[in-house]
Amino acid sequence: MSGANAAVPSLTAMPEWKALKTHYEQISQMHLRDWFVEDPDRATRFHAEAVGIAMDYSKNRINASTMQHLMALAKARDLKGRIDMMFRGERINNTENRAVLHVALRAPKGESIMLDGVNVVDQVHEVLDRMAKFCNAVRSGEWRGHTGKRIKNVVNIGIGGSDLGPAMAYEALRFYTQRDMCFRFVANVDPADLSEALIDLDAEETLFIVSSKTFTTIETMTNAAAARVWALKTLKDDAAIEKHFVAVSTNAEAVSKFGIGPSQMFGFWDWVGGRYSMDSAIGLSTMLAVGPEGFSEMLAGFHAMDEHFQSAPFESNLPVIHGMLAVWYSDFFGCQTLAVLPYAQYLKRFSAYLQQLTMESNGKHVTRDGKAVDYDTAAIVWGEPGTNGQHSFYELLHQGTRIVPADLIGFYYDLNSMAMQHELLFANLIAQAEALAFGKTEEQARAEGIEESLVPHRSYEGNRPSNLLLMERLTPSALGKLIALYEHSVFVQGTIWGIDSFDQWGVELGKSLAVRITAELAGEASNPHDSSTTAAIERYRQHHRG
Ligand code: F6P
Repeated sequence: MSGANAAVPSLTAMPEWKALKTHYEQISQMHLRDWFVEDPDRATRFHAEAVGIAMDYSKNRINASTMQHLMALAKARDLKGRIDMMFRGERINNTENRAVLHVALRAPKGESIMLDGVNVVDQVHEVLDRMAKFCNAVRSGEWRGHTGKRIKNVVNIGIGGSDLGPAMAYEALRFYTQRDMCFRFVANVDPADLSEALIDLDAEETLFIVSSKTFTTIETMTNAAAARVWALKTLKDDAAIEKHFVAVSTNAEAVSKFGIGPSQMFGFWDWVGGRYSMDSAIGLSTMLAVGPEGFSEMLAGFHAMDEHFQSAPFESNLPVIHGMLAVWYSDFFGCQTLAVLPYAQYLKRFSAYLQQLTMESNGKHVTRDGKAVDYDTAAIVWGEPGTNGQHSFYELLHQGTRIVPADLIGFYYDLNSMAMQHELLFANLIAQAEALAFGKTEEQARAEGIEESLVPHRSYEGNRPSNLLLMERLTPSALGKLIALYEHSVFVQGTIWGIDSFDQWGVELGKSLAVRITAELAGEASNPHDSSTTAAIERYRQHHRG
């Protein structure tokens, strides 16, 4: 077997892995305090900057030799070869036999990426042009609802990658949005989600975007059908659907069965993974909110990071450094989680977005060729915007028994001309990185006059690793760059682990069981289960039988 389906060499048997393990044993007890004293150039040595993102990774549990070992491992895992395979459109999603070409979604017009004899960049721009035309018509009021009213509300119905990206991007770019329009995002099949989203909306002024790559996802299809009923209650005419519903999908047949015609459908392709799709037509709500120009700026940001990832040497390549550090903490320090802590309220959904990107991509237990891994794969990603988190879970980050590597993200300028608040926010960002790394020794606590019995409580071990990611301001372009950094970091990690980062078989079992159990709750079927599952079904049925 060759190319995408080649056998994956054992990671832990590689000499580069073994060397890294020996190195870990030598340096794992070292403290960042000492390293900073020993090496006055540390902050410049472990600093990389590209496309407007400055990454200070000096507060990691590494020295120069660690980075050499990590880069040697990246080379041994043929990271460069795998990057090129992805950009060339090889079918590196081998369990689904698909190319992985989200990078084509942001390739500028005129570029060429060939897949099965077709230039996919041309296809991408055809859809982008149609999206732009549609968005301009809605934003300007030229596109009217069935009764002639202007569209003021946009409700995106989708789940997973068809929700998290659009919902995150809307919040992230809220500053740039058309303020006389209202945007809502419905994902959960819990009726509360749709009901609350629609509670104060006028159907005559509301546009639904049904976003689903497959157009078979049960939550989305159920919510879309309910939205249709809700809209028709007011609009009272099936013909109204074409003015109030559009679809984003790869499945034209299912879209048309739902009653949405081809001119109201925006397509994408099976080579775009759901969690890598926010810059495809799945971003229609984003484009409606920020306009086609804002959307293009975001794509240009993604593309700038793509070019950097593809061309920069590993030693100065942001996604490579970021991804290799993630491997370092997962597999050598045994860290279970990664905290993503944006010091930007607009990024309040960013860690939720990264959860799917990271955990659905790299939460795998076998390699691409189906062998069980003997190392940990993806970390659990979580987080909240600073400074809110500081008044909630940072206690554990500073004094808990676990090491939680953290990404601290900040912007030099705020968008709302509130310099005082912004400076305080930024001061907190820097302070937290400093406190995590250096802590406060018992001696320092005593020297401050802290009463002896409280010294253990009021000292901080420090040595908690973090990356500091700084950008100028949160623009559409900056957002694109930041997301692409994480996308490619995930790819780097998946390559080292030898897994398929682009399938998601792990979600299937729960889905199929839910279908069976739905029939059982309705009393239409009865299947053998364990006693606990049977009891839960029975309890539900008893309540509904009255
Ligand atoms: O169940 C997981 C998943 O397939 C995700 O990968 C995907 O983003 C989500 O469901 C939604 O899928 P679709 O866009 O096809 O509705």
